[in-house]
Amino acid sequence: CGIVGYVGARDVSNFLLEGLHRLEYRGYDSAGIAVLADGEIVIRKRTGRVQELAALLDEQPVTGTLGIGHTRWATHGAPCDKNSHPHIGGSGEVVLVHNGVIENYNQLRSQLQQIGYVFRTDTDTEAVAHLMAHHLEEQVKLGADVTAPATCLTALEITLRKLKGTYGLAVLFRDCPNMLIAARNGSPLVVGVGDGEYFLASDATPLIGYTEQVVYLADHELAILSPDGMEIRHRDTGRTSPSIRTLNQVSTDIELGDYAHYMLKEIFEQPNSIENAMRGRLDEDEATAKFGGLNLSSQQLRHIDRIVLTACGTSWHAAMVGEYLIEEFARIPVEVEYASELRYRNPPLNDRTMIFAITQSGETADTLAAMRECKRKGHPTLAICNVVGSSIAREADGGVYLHAGSEVGVASTKAFTSQVTVLTLLALFFGRMRHMSWQAGRNIIRELRTMPEHVERTLKCHDVVQEIADKYHRCSNFLYLGRLYNFPVALEGALKLKEISYIHAEGYPAAEMKHGPLALVDENTPSVFIVPKGGIYPKVISNLEEVKARKGPVIAIACEGDDRIADLADDVIYVPETDECLQPLVTSIPLQLLAYHIALLRGCNVDRPRNLAKSVTVE
Ligand code: G6P
Repeated sequence: CGIVGYVGARDVSNFLLEGLHRLEYRGYDSAGIAVLADGEIVIRKRTGRVQELAALLDEQPVTGTLGIGHTRWATHGAPCDKNSHPHIGGSGEVVLVHNGVIENYNQLRSQLQQIGYVFRTDTDTEAVAHLMAHHLEEQVKLGADVTAPATCLTALEITLRKLKGTYGLAVLFRDCPNMLIAARNGSPLVVGVGDGEYFLASDATPLIGYTEQVVYLADHELAILSPDGMEIRHRDTGRTSPSIRTLNQVSTDIELGDYAHYMLKEIFEQPNSIENAMRGRLDEDEATAKFGGLNLSSQQLRHIDRIVLTACGTSWHAAMVGEYLIEEFARIPVEVEYASELRYRNPPLNDRTMIFAITQSGETADTLAAMRECKRKGHPTLAICNVVGSSIAREADGGVYLHAGSEVGVASTKAFTSQVTVLTLLALFFGRMRHMSWQAGRNIIRELRTMPEHVERTLKCHDVVQEIADKYHRCSNFLYLGRLYNFPVALEGALKLKEISYIHAEGYPAAEMKHGPLALVDENTPSVFIVPKGGIYPKVISNLEEVKARKGPVIAIACEGDDRIADLADDVIYVPETDECLQPLVTSIPLQLLAYHIALLRGCNVDRPRNLAKSVTVE
């Protein structure tokens, strides 16, 4: 979910709305704002996209100089108008927006119901709003002044102590007209410092163009914002002096240009984004890669005898390619862990284990939590991340940025190939510190240098892929099969199709087919075989024949010049030949295009698929 807030002199609606647009990648089930107008809290909220909210605001505008807003990815309660944020506490004394999950909300809810609070929604957030109203009322009963900031603050602090779970909260009080309070525990919040005005957001994107001075809140911190100033308080230590940082993002490169969708634009940006991931990082003389931000001495780096790569979703698939690369080049044992598992497991990590959190957004809650868990235990924890200044980038001990530019489409494309590129460089780096020869390093570098060209050429398959999509888009099941470096590509291809076309698809190591999934094969279940040239080519061909023998249609991703494949497969998409270990950078691209075109033909929203969010900031 995304949060915005403002207090100052300007009319708040425009900032809130624009901020919510920029945060829509965090969820788009519903959007809403609350503005304090003439002593009353006015709420406008709508199910669906921020543009629905914008339409509502056109019909029913609201003006004021203090407000909060929210774009939701539903956790508790269906996406509908009533469950949309902001939520009101009591009879309108308090209004708030929330990102995170309140684990004890059921208990709080029944306690509050017993003392007369009526719940109008199915959300966990409403319990927080009522609890706050309740404590405000208690304060007033004790003689406190409801218009005094101190009264509201006390009510909020008592409330927070009773919450179990995670929150980023932005709160307004009806009777305290100049104050906005933000509270963070586990869900990021950033304050933008202006001149007589303050901005609030769950990440810095909405602040760009408004201010460059920002304060990132830490867990258990509160920000009390008013046109007169800002106070930051910590739960345990009270008032703290804020550390103001400068935001050095100029603006977001989020224009669609001539493309029909962001996903298509981002697919076509890959020759560039791959180039950017390598820029300045290849060292021809030493036949290795170099990185500015690992923040570890070469002694520490040599000491490492195990690497854990942790991530979610598409980034997890990139991590799998990374595992194969690092083990092959550097002979360091690598484990790939779902961040959501790693955070609650207790794997035996030792002081020679290095952790990499891999993430496009740098905000995925599970990845952040896994990283913190590893840091707590004292392991060097680095990030491979796209978004500069994101939570994971800030908290990591060091790391490597992807420099892929903004990725807007929910289905990740260019971030995947950039992650694979960076992991290739890391494998080369670790390899050259250990067993890899100068010559072998040089070969990899040479091949990497031609990669942008290879990808450019691969993109020429666009028309062929469109025809193939047309032929198969009505099928209800797909299999994606590959081996070695192309096994993670098969997983990623299947994920792309699932995410945006809602077709069931499974990725599998091609040889595992015969141990189960082969039973699924029939005339209506296409198998996408990734079968480029390489040592294992004949083996994959045998797997392909096994499917053909069961009358399963086969779409092959094969190397240019492979004439044999045309006789075996029903359809072929050709990609340039490259080193086996670099194949994912080309073979993944037709699969992205295939998912895109199938989704389009099925009338799906490719950039904003149902039920998903670009960045999942709750666990
Ligand atoms: C969400 C997105 C996926 C993404 C995953 C991990 O589920 O929908 O596309 O791969 O999060 O995101 P990250 O930003 O950490 O790479």
